[in-house]
Amino acid sequence: MPITENPSADTVLSIRDLNIALPKGADRALAVEDVSYEVKRGEIMCVVGESGSGKSMAANAVMGLLPKGVNATRGEILFEGQDLLALTEKQHRALRGLKIGMIFQEPMTALNPLMRVGAQIAEVFEAHGQLTPRSARPARWNC
Ligand SMILES: Nc1ncnc2c1ncn2[C@@H]1O[C@H](COP(=O)(O)OP(=O)(O)OP(=O)(O)O)[C@@H](O)[C@H]1O
Ligand SMILES: [Mg+2]
Repeated sequence: MPITENPSADTVLSIRDLNIALPKGADRALAVEDVSYEVKRGEIMCVVGESGSGKSMAANAVMGLLPKGVNATRGEILFEGQDLLALTEKQHRALRGLKIGMIFQEPMTALNPLMRVGAQIAEVFEAHGQLTPRSARPARWNC
């Protein structure tokens, strides 16, 4: 996909020339090589590729959730103009679940079967100060 030099104001996410390196002993050196794409406000972007081609790794890099030993070694990920690769864990945590969400690939492992679904969703809003434990109580117990 062609990338414009100056993303327009309605570009929400811009991944440019991204490389993600795998640790020694992995099945290949780079999980992601020279990947660039943009997502505009209100746009739905589908990334299609064979299994192991790096779709999830690119998404994990956006979320600041790359596994230990896996690192972005080149490129940038601009979200609303801010380079996500330069954020600290604390800054990532402030964005995750508030401005950027991810639905993980394996639904059976994404939700904790020992907790109500409502409690797991309420937790996100509470963590970002958008619901108090009291106002989240109906969601915690009814879903
Ligand atoms: N935790 C990890 N440690 C080392 N290498 C990994 C790890 N997770 C994935 N990889 C490797 O990273 C590469 C990209 O994997 P990724 O999971 O991003 O692929 P994908 O495109 O999402 O595949 P799928 O369609 O199966 O979900 C693959 O070579 C994979 O083996
Ligand atoms: Mg995947």
